[in-house]
Amino acid sequence: MPNLIVLGTQWGDEGKGKIVDLLTDRADVIVRYQGGHNAGHTIVSDGEKFILHLIPSGILHADKLCVIGNGVALDPHALVEEREMLTKRGVSVDRNLRISDACHLILPYHRAIDKESEKFRGTRRIGTTGRGIGPAYVDKMARIGIRLGDLANPSLFREKLEQNLAETNYLLEKLYTTHGLDAETIYSQTMSLADRILPFMDDTALTLHKAIKNGKTLLFEGAQGTLLDVDHGTYPFVTSSNSSAGGALTGTGVGPTAIDRVLGVTKAYTTRVGSGPFPTELINESGEYLREKGQEFGATTGRARRCGWFDAPAVRYACRINGISEIALTKIDVLDALPSLKIATGYEINGKKTEEFPRRVELLETARPVYESHPGWTQPTSGVRDFNALPDNAKRYIARIEELIEVPVTVLSTGVGREDTIIRQDPFAAR
Ligand code: GDP
Ligand code: IMO
Ligand code: MG
Repeated sequence: MPNLIVLGTQWGDEGKGKIVDLLTDRADVIVRYQGGHNAGHTIVSDGEKFILHLIPSGILHADKLCVIGNGVALDPHALVEEREMLTKRGVSVDRNLRISDACHLILPYHRAIDKESEKFRGTRRIGTTGRGIGPAYVDKMARIGIRLGDLANPSLFREKLEQNLAETNYLLEKLYTTHGLDAETIYSQTMSLADRILPFMDDTALTLHKAIKNGKTLLFEGAQGTLLDVDHGTYPFVTSSNSSAGGALTGTGVGPTAIDRVLGVTKAYTTRVGSGPFPTELINESGEYLREKGQEFGATTGRARRCGWFDAPAVRYACRINGISEIALTKIDVLDALPSLKIATGYEINGKKTEEFPRRVELLETARPVYESHPGWTQPTSGVRDFNALPDNAKRYIARIEELIEVPVTVLSTGVGREDTIIRQDPFAAR
């Protein structure tokens, strides 16, 4: 069966967790490839809600292998905490989890820098999740990062930690005028977790290679969304990793010829958490309505998500960047009661109309959406199991989205549960 990347096409929180959990049935290995515990992926399984930050959303299926690839930034505390949460709730996290020895660790000084640098930026702050993600990736690129494999060598770990803290404490104390951190404390706190993490450590690129060779089906689970990608997103209001399809390769060590399809998860409207441009944002009662009805509050930080109409150029752009072959459209039920809906088909930027998503953030900041209106369906889609049984106006809304983004909507989600899904074409089916 084909190997599939599942990723977000907007600014995150599109419902990736639900879709990955749903498709896990058909896959053998589920792989996270980037981001860290800034992600919050919600799964509702038999009415029970789970929020996963670091461990792949396939973990609720005991017989599947879950892999955390080298591209993920790993906070040792967050991992241990998440595993304990799952174990307490009866989900086994044992031989079914492997973590790359090349994952970069998020340590307390990364969180401190994340917090202080956000304060320092003032009105240009990114509105990060405060999890230390950015600073951990900075260290990776600066080639001073500490990787999971280093935990297996305590004296090397201590040496790297001391060297990094000498630099970081200078920054914390002199530039940010706050207190520095103690290397010995971080060393002993982190080492006290080592025996709960190292048993999962693996050469995951080799494990994945063997799985592919043995004909196993791989499902790559993206975190964040394409518009938060550090290269292709609304830079600088992005996260610090490649959440687009390319990240699935560099973040795992799997080559491009192993990937067959890319499924984009897209919300039937748009949301964003944190700062940055958002042309279709609704700062009015309609936005509040979407937030309440869609329960748009961050799964990681609890922050209210900014809400707005569907932005077709943005999603078409994401489809292009990722080579998306099909779309899972989620949360269509949130629009059920609205008498009329809008879709942005383009923008007006400095008096000029365009149908393309501008790559420069200062242009996007001034972009005024060009809308077309659609009549609502004012009937429930939740509970509908057959595409043909959907209200006609809902079908028209979906067909118009397909036309604008130039990719078919093959999966529809009409509620939080696995059963609230209409599959028009199975992403794993032979074609
Ligand atoms: P992710 O980060 O992409 O995995 O998405 P989140 O879990 O952060 O946010 C999506 C939210 O929408 C979660 O609370 C899901 O339970 C919920 N959700 C997913 N699909 C649907 C849907 O089709 N309808 C409704 N009403 N909620 C959904
Ligand atoms: P999932 O996987 C939505 C946003 C933050 C901030 C920016 C940078 O659940 O879709 P960071 O802490 O990553 O340096 O913050 O990215 N952000 C997300 N927004 N969903 C997410 O993950 C996000 N992860 C990060 O709000 O604007
Ligand atoms: Mg989320």
